[in-house]
Amino acid sequence: MSWPSRTEFLTQSAEETFELGRRLGAEIPSNALIALYGDLGAGKTTFLKGLVAGSSGLSPHEVSSPTFNYLNIYSGKQTLYHFDLYRLKNGEEFFLMGFDEYFSLPGICCIEWPEVIETRLPACISIRFAYKGENERSITIDGTLS
Ligand SMILES: Nc1ncnc2c1ncn2[C@@H]1O[C@H](COP(=O)(O)OP(=O)(O)O)[C@@H](O)[C@H]1O
Ligand SMILES: [Mg+2]
Repeated sequence: MSWPSRTEFLTQSAEETFELGRRLGAEIPSNALIALYGDLGAGKTTFLKGLVAGSSGLSPHEVSSPTFNYLNIYSGKQTLYHFDLYRLKNGEEFFLMGFDEYFSLPGICCIEWPEVIETRLPACISIRFAYKGENERSITIDGTLS
């Protein structure tokens, strides 16, 4: 499968969203930076579980939303850094805490709720999730994979 610079997918179930994430995870460069946009329940974490499965080989049970931490780390075949900035009030803190150093480590960085650091985010793949119906989601992937 090729990933043109901008592609919209419609999924009809959480399983389809997981599968899309898994396919992307299997192809993604090991140093990719991915920003995941979308409201609560839009499917970001479901997609990310697929991405972890496809890139690191870990099972989805090992992936959760980092509700109380800003960062979860999954180490398998590849390492995946999963940031969730939902509770981060001030984007400056992200950089003061040195979290941006993870961007240059070997490993895939995924950021849920990236808006708070958006102005200082390096070039990345952005994925936008939108609720279309009870089981339907629109998922738009922007950016090239090389
Ligand atoms: N097509 C779909 N894609 C993803 N999730 C879906 C879909 N249809 C229903 N769902 C449900 O929506 C919820 C998505 O939750 P989650 O992935 O945690 O979202 P977020 O991380 O964006 O808050 C789950 O309960 C999932 O079962
Ligand atoms: Mg989530």
